Amino acid sequence: MTHAGRWPSGTVAELAVSAIKGMAMRAARIPGAVSLTWGLPSFPTPEPIRDAVARALAADPDVGKYTLPDGLPELRHAIARQRRGLDADGPDPDRNVLVTAGNMQGLSALLRAVVDPGDEVILTDPCFASHIQQVRLCGARPVYWTLDEARGWSLDLDALPGLVGPRTRAIVLVTPSNPTGKVFEREALLRVAEIAEAADLLVVIDDPYSYLVYDDPERYFDLGAEPSVAHRLAYLFTFSKMFAMSGWRLGYMVVPESLKREVLKAHDATIICAPRISQVAGLAALGLDRAHVDHFRAVLAARRVHIRERLDRLAHAFSYHPPEGAYYVFPRIVAPHADASEFCLRVLDAVGVALTPGSAFGPSGEHHVRMAFCVSDEAIDEAFDRLERLFPR
Ligand SMILES: Cc1ncc(COP(=O)(O)O)c(C=O)c1O
Repeated sequence: MTHAGRWPSGTVAELAVSAIKGMAMRAARIPGAVSLTWGLPSFPTPEPIRDAVARALAADPDVGKYTLPDGLPELRHAIARQRRGLDADGPDPDRNVLVTAGNMQGLSALLRAVVDPGDEVILTDPCFASHIQQVRLCGARPVYWTLDEARGWSLDLDALPGLVGPRTRAIVLVTPSNPTGKVFEREALLRVAEIAEAADLLVVIDDPYSYLVYDDPERYFDLGAEPSVAHRLAYLFTFSKMFAMSGWRLGYMVVPESLKREVLKAHDATIICAPRISQVAGLAALGLDRAHVDHFRAVLAARRVHIRERLDRLAHAFSYHPPEGAYYVFPRIVAPHADASEFCLRVLDAVGVALTPGSAFGPSGEHHVRMAFCVSDEAIDEAFDRLERLFPR
């Protein structure tokens, strides 16, 4: 029976299936394919977190119930302590903190609360592909802020004011960046905040990777902890990467009090609360001593060296800026090709290596590919052995 064209909605009809997951699913159908597509770390969730959950499952009769929409109070207190850092006047667990089911869900609720159809949201270009789809899901328009590739994918501050119009509501930043691995400089981020102040924009920081800055961790600047910006800043943290908890679906956001009230409406209307069992896991995670983070960082730093060595041997096919953080490298394709999608499909069909076409991350991503190096060393070697066969010197 036909559905007589009643679905999909016009909004969803215009969305693209994530190229990241699209390529991952296509690769999964090809026996023996090696995938550098998905930013899914190879680490298991640290044992103390799993133990805490096992204890709660055995002993806590409430473990299967809803929590308050903004999350377990003890988790919100732990988050506020964490974000307070050196500043005694940091976020308040009740007024500013909201526990989410990860940053995708958090950002979705946040955007619902700040944009109307026809509004505009500034995204870096390239940016995290799902941000583009999220803005479109709200009926809003992504406005692309082209990063400066020649300067290692830096923010181009001179271009920003010209992108702000009467319908601009927010600007979304990810540092270290997915897909480029760029860590944005302190001065640049503070300048973005000034421009946002002048134009009355919300600044959104989506933070999966701040724990992963390689050569000089001091270069990471936490704009979300800057008191002078707190009144117009939404800081979203996800447990997915730092605690290898991507399947638990847990994150939190810290927002101004007036905004929390509004975000809660969208959050409650769509999910009610983050899964309680995951909140229990999150509480255990925040109590950890961070030895596992040092381990993750050391392993990923070694993989970064590894993938760079392999990319350097393929300079006739790819040119790249060394990633400063996260676990992505975003090379330009210098081998002959039509466009990034054609290239990725050809590579997958010819040698069974899945890469993500850079065009999924915004117009400036065209003629690039994203490679995620959170996979095992063996997978990196296998992928590059095959690429070397396809692109002989
Ligand atoms: C920039 C960015 N935001 C959000 C996510 C997804 O976060 P979560 O698992 O918390 O939804 C990712 C995952 O790769 C990401 O890179």
